[in-house]
This record gives sequence, structure tokens and C-alpha cells, in this order.
Amino acid sequence: MRMAAIAAAAALAAGVAVAEEPAAGADLYQQRTCVACHGKDARTPLLPEYPKLAGQNAPYLLQQMRDIKSGARANGNTPAMRGVMHLVSDEELVVLAEWLAALP
Ligand code: HEC
Repeated sequence: MRMAAIAAAAALAAGVAVAEEPAAGADLYQQRTCVACHGKDARTPLLPEYPKLAGQNAPYLLQQMRDIKSGARANGNTPAMRGVMHLVSDEELVVLAEWLAALP
């Protein structure tokens, strides 16, 4: 009985710990709709004038996303990307940049 209670408490603690972790890059990429425009593998974009992201340097990706979010980067294609930037927090941008950079 006591062992079961301890096991249940441990499982609960583990569940809470997992819930508090920031979502992994792959999950964010799906959930925040990135996949729709940049493609499943982040290198087959919806339109040829949309950028490939896989394997790009993480600091560059992060800077571009921050600039698009803030409005510092604004060209003919930016509005499409800017429209989803309210879906991602600044912390999530870091996770996404690192995940994208590590893709082949
Ligand atoms: C509606 C289509 C669309 C969605 C959804 C979208 N993007 Fe983009 N993204 C674009 C376009 C278009 C550009 C190019 C913008 C420009 O030229 O300023 C871009 C640019 C970028 C860049 C800069 C690339 C570079 O080489 O400078 C990054 C990084 C990026 N997107 C990541 C993401 C991530 C991560 C998500 C999900 C949170 C996302 N995008 C969702 C269309 C989209």
C-alpha cells in the first residue's frame, strides 16, 4: 500500500515536471502552424519565395524571428510570417531557433 502511494506520488511529480518543461521544438513547429508555410522538414516551403529554415544558424534564425515579430524586418513577404508571431513567446523562439538549426 505504502509503496503504491510512493509510486503514485513519484508519477505525479514526474508528470508535473514534464508539464513545466517548455514544449520541444518539434511540437512547437507543428502547434504554432510553422509547418504550414515552411514545410514538414523546414526545407520545402509552401511557396518558392518563402525561406528554407533547416540547418540555418540558430542566432540568425532567432534574430530574424525577433525582427519580424517587432516589425524591424518588414519586406513584401513579412506580413505572412508576422501574422503568426503572436502565437510564440520569446522563450519559444529560442527553442525553435535551436531546433531548426539542428535539422539536417
Ligand atoms: C503564413 C506563412 C508562415 C507561417 C505560418 C510561418 N512563417 Fe516563417 N516565414 C514566412 C515568410 C513568408 C517568411 C519570409 C519573411 C520575410 O521575407 O520577411 C518567413 C520567415 C521566417 C524566418 C526567417 C528566415 C530567414 O532566412 O531569414 C524564420 C526563422 C521563420 N520564418 C520561422 C518560422 C517559425 C518558427 C514559424 C512558426 C512559429 C513560422 N515561421 C511560421 C511565412 C510563414
